[in-house]
Amino acid sequence: MEQTMEATQSKPVPGGNNVLVEFEDGIAWVHLNRPEKRNAMSIELAREMNQVLDALELDDRCGVIVLTGKGEAFSAGMDLQGFFRASDAVSDVERHRAYRETRAWQWRTLMYYAKPTIAMVNGWCFGGAFTPLICCDLAVTDEAATFGLSEINWGIIPGGVVSKAISTLMGDREALYYVMTGEKFDGKRAKELGLVNEAVPADRLKDRTRELAKILLEKNPTTLRQARMAYKYAREMNWELAAEYLTAKGDQTTFVDKEKGREKGMVQFLDEKTYKPGHGTYKRGSE
Ligand code: COA
Repeated sequence: MEQTMEATQSKPVPGGNNVLVEFEDGIAWVHLNRPEKRNAMSIELAREMNQVLDALELDDRCGVIVLTGKGEAFSAGMDLQGFFRASDAVSDVERHRAYRETRAWQWRTLMYYAKPTIAMVNGWCFGGAFTPLICCDLAVTDEAATFGLSEINWGIIPGGVVSKAISTLMGDREALYYVMTGEKFDGKRAKELGLVNEAVPADRLKDRTRELAKILLEKNPTTLRQARMAYKYAREMNWELAAEYLTAKGDQTTFVDKEKGREKGMVQFLDEKTYKPGHGTYKRGSE
């Protein structure tokens, strides 16, 4: 992560035919970029997303990722031609690889990414698109966006890891209702279901997402990463393990935090009386 300004500025922008990246003041806007196919996710798109996410993790121009879609859709889900038919037509090994590459970016990489992630849902969000939506840390949607677990309508189950992903955020009754009926719902309902943090009018979507990203950019990035990881791993543990893990993770955070945020916050609150944690972030960078 230690890069000179010159090295950073001369770096190429990651992405290709299927993924478009734009940098703006620490925010990397990562667009699924197949608007003519409503950003349906193909095998090629998975390969590109894996490269983009790997590159952005070590790119100083990116402090926060916003994942969104170009055009009328966040994503119309898995590409029936470019993923399902294409992976049915190849060898078993190649099929395995296509599924692995898809799961990699949609789930593992996003879920445990080194930098904070926000999904910004515009337009359509179907099927396989629920996985990256859910695996981003936060999500904001256009209140008029259209969501749907449409798999039941064409003879498949919410596979990949969609069924697992929805079970982490939705209650069983609601998840099964949408799995079994394939009924669509809007952004306001997505907020009620816990799939997103906020549902806002379309004309506020980008501004509100940017505001949220800026809040995250002001935090100590090491503490922010450790806090996100601590939450994600602790929720899978029982109380005893979580207590031990979180104590150790807290100590590790102090150890790896080059900003010494804990120490600074305590000095500013207890000794200098210049700051109250209940009212905002400690003065980063001050000695
Ligand atoms: N896989 C492959 N192609 C897809 C796709 C998908 N999931 N979703 C859309 N497309 C393609 C369409 O086939 C069409 O291609 P064409 O122009 O070559 O004919 C193009 O994208 C535009 O889609 P279209 O259906 O004409 O757009 P629309 O605005 O009328 O409808 C949707 C948008 C999203 C409602 C509709 O495309 C749809 O139902 N898609 C499938 C959604 C789904 O069930 N996904 C779950 C997969 S797990």
